[in-house]
Amino acid sequence: MVSEPGPIAGESLKPAELYKKLQKAFTPHQPISLPELLAGRLDLIHRVTDAINTDDLHVVIYGDRGTGKTSIARVVAYLVQEPSSTNGRRCVLISCTADDTFTTIWRKVGQEILLSQRQFGFLQQETRQIVGRLELDSAVISPSDARLFLESIQNEMVIVIDEFDRIHNQETRALMADTIKYFSDHSVRTTLVFVGVGKTLSDLLHEHLSVTRNIAQVLVNPMEMKVLAQIIQNGCKFSGLTFEMELDTEIAKLSQGYPHYTHLMGLWAGRKAIEDGRLQIMNEDLNQAIPDALRNAAGGLQEQYERAVDSGNRTAIFKEVLLACALARKDSLGRFSVVALQEPLNLITGKNYTTGAYQAHLGRFCESIRGPILERSGNPKSYRWNFLNPQLIPFVVLQGVSQKMIQPSRIPPLQRA
Ligand SMILES: Nc1ncnc2c1ncn2[C@@H]1O[C@H](COP(=O)(O)OP(=O)(O)OP(=O)(O)O)[C@@H](O)[C@H]1O
Ligand SMILES: [Mg+2]
Repeated sequence: MVSEPGPIAGESLKPAELYKKLQKAFTPHQPISLPELLAGRLDLIHRVTDAINTDDLHVVIYGDRGTGKTSIARVVAYLVQEPSSTNGRRCVLISCTADDTFTTIWRKVGQEILLSQRQFGFLQQETRQIVGRLELDSAVISPSDARLFLESIQNEMVIVIDEFDRIHNQETRALMADTIKYFSDHSVRTTLVFVGVGKTLSDLLHEHLSVTRNIAQVLVNPMEMKVLAQIIQNGCKFSGLTFEMELDTEIAKLSQGYPHYTHLMGLWAGRKAIEDGRLQIMNEDLNQAIPDALRNAAGGLQEQYERAVDSGNRTAIFKEVLLACALARKDSLGRFSVVALQEPLNLITGKNYTTGAYQAHLGRFCESIRGPILERSGNPKSYRWNFLNPQLIPFVVLQGVSQKMIQPSRIPPLQRA
């Protein structure tokens, strides 16, 4: 609950206005749409833009949950539109739900186009109307229907199909892959951009070799520390706040690669400062903001955490081992070995555990009774573990800080070999 803040010393902006600006700058529950608030990712933006500017090439943006895929797609959509030209390029963005089919996806695209023709498009630019009489009379059931449907529009189109991983219907995925091939073979002036959670391209699209040639594959990895710190710098600049030295890197480190947490901490720590009548965010604001950030983290993580560490035994070290898993050095796929846990576990507990003392815990974390929260791969001599939901990594780290299991200054940044 936010208490009524006092006036801000030496500032004409009222606290209510500051809260509003802060809320615009830090958006833990919303993708970024404005280039000025996007930190890093320029290389990926260029790759997507280049693909859009290349004939017969389509795009798949994929990666772990919460790494910033939709933000990239939205900013690209903003950048590649040509609103000042009547027949210029236009973008529409739709999101899939689990029960969508090939036909309903195209129906959504049609509705989005009609909406933008009534000038209520998501970017709300008056001049970006899509030109043409849309043929929406019959259902789109094949790639050639989709082509005919798009030919009724005069503008070159970029169609972003987000949350594509939600679709489990293999026929829909296969038809979409066929559409890419068909559009490329027939030089249709539309670029399809698929966005979704997945470790590989085939997690998203039904992969035929002949299609991969026509796809620019853009993998979105967790963010580097300096980019996460930039989110705090940009957000503070945007909202007219400053921060105590090194608070940006502190928040970046706690975020462990996931910008959702950077936004959560920026927002809640900023609120604490304003509440206290200050324009500078202090370390103490961050300490106070961590419980709020945990309570407001997306995706039912509290429940998953409680379930994983639940124990009636006071001497059980599930919490400590899970925190050590979160802090362990990982490979590029987020996997860690049993040995990698030793150093962080000893740091957390102040004891000298050998691998035999905690290996069984890893096995328990892979059982359904504890989630499962981890999964195991490899063979007995070189087992590797990884978090099934990588967004739990910063959550577990923040729990560790909040429960005073570890001091923030001792947390290593996200370590990927
Ligand atoms: N480059 C960026 N700069 C600043 N903030 C970002 C950036 N990328 C993502 N974010 C922020 O991180 C959070 C997650 O972003 P986004 O929704 O784009 O991720 P996603 O990968 O699409 O997530 P999901 O897998 O849940 O669909 C949001 O709060 C968003 O504002
Ligand atoms: Mg998304």
